[in-house]
Amino acid sequence: MMTAMVRPVSRVLRLGCVLAFCFQVLVPCGLPGAWGLDNGLAMTPTMGWLHWERFMCNVNCQEEPDSCISEKLFQQIAEIMASDGWKDVGYEYICIDDCWMAPERDSEGRLQADPKRFPGGIRHLADYVHSKGLKLGIYADVGNKTCAGFPGSFGYYDIDAQTFADWGVDLLKFDGCYCDSIQHLAEGYKQMSLALNRTGRSIVYSCEWPLYMRPIFKPNYTEIREYCNHWRNFPDIYDSWESIRNTLDWTSSNQKIIVPVAGPGGWNDPDMLVIGNFGLSRDQQITQMALWAIMAAPLLMSNDLRSISPEAKALLQDKDVIAINQDRLGKQGYQLRKEDNFEIWERPLLNLAWAVAIVNLKEIGGPRSYTINLTSLGRGLACNPNCLITELLPEKRKLGFYEWTSSLKTQINPTGTVLLRLERTSSAQFSYSVVSDSL
Ligand code: GLA
Repeated sequence: MMTAMVRPVSRVLRLGCVLAFCFQVLVPCGLPGAWGLDNGLAMTPTMGWLHWERFMCNVNCQEEPDSCISEKLFQQIAEIMASDGWKDVGYEYICIDDCWMAPERDSEGRLQADPKRFPGGIRHLADYVHSKGLKLGIYADVGNKTCAGFPGSFGYYDIDAQTFADWGVDLLKFDGCYCDSIQHLAEGYKQMSLALNRTGRSIVYSCEWPLYMRPIFKPNYTEIREYCNHWRNFPDIYDSWESIRNTLDWTSSNQKIIVPVAGPGGWNDPDMLVIGNFGLSRDQQITQMALWAIMAAPLLMSNDLRSISPEAKALLQDKDVIAINQDRLGKQGYQLRKEDNFEIWERPLLNLAWAVAIVNLKEIGGPRSYTINLTSLGRGLACNPNCLITELLPEKRKLGFYEWTSSLKTQINPTGTVLLRLERTSSAQFSYSVVSDSL
């Protein structure tokens, strides 16, 4: 339930107009941003599917042929991504995580896929994925072994980059296990980035560099952004509300450092979307989708698209929420405030629009209401002088035109989120809407 309280134009409102003018004039000039990896990729956050959270390191194809890490799994998921609307809304990369490799390199030192589980080899799988109009991602590790103990890329960066390029791979997730020093870690991440570039193939480079530097060393994000298209900061996501909460808490606690560095070509990666699995309630799934949109996070689903529920599918394929995630202004959102077990997050969007998410963190009781003064949103500019507010989640509905000094009352389920889009409107549009409403 929402209410708009219309008040006369005040001094505050006039101040708001001045601020809005400054914002419009100053923002396009731009403040100097961090220099990004110059490979022309990930201009908006990567979208796709990654096997890890849902399928992990299941190599037992004998007993579990449908959920082991094999070419069959990726072919089936690719088929569904192409035919069930996933590709149409932007999910493009189908990504292999750990446990695809044979235990040894070949006689020429190249990585090879496990011959039993990937009988056609990765080149063949890449051709299949490309024939569906999708892209293929693969996984390797900067150190001596992958986290699950398969061959690492240390000492083989050029060979591995070239092998991936020869196979037609389009994304590399580069993990950071079994690296013997922080120098090797940093050098390895940089060398692999340069090696990928030298192949001449467009390969999105997904790093875990900052995660493995912590807690002992402070990551240099300006440098990381020069080499990676996205980077994990925080431990692995699990299929649980606690994990989502921890990820959000970490992000908001570190937002001063990590938010400014995100932008076209380089993004903070809070890990996979676990929507459509077992651990999150409907409201918690809404919270993950809404907040991953606000955080400009890569949208890499880890679920079983062969058996996903219609509700989870609709949420993951919600074009309006995806549009916020993919917004071309390329600015990551942030937590505006936290009070009484509510968190308010906001994200600036193209054309001076804003996305606002209100999360109800209280895990006891029923839906709670929260009233927000619109002057407090978007640095005072989101609704200046007026705005059209649309609720995107949990329901899609136009809430109408609001004045800058009015407020909005929302009702939010425990652990759920209300996601709003605010579009600034002129006074003329607002007056017209008031007149036409009263007719
Ligand atoms: C690490 C990564 C995960 C996954 C596993 C695979 O834990 O952070 O995302 O890739 O390794 O072993």
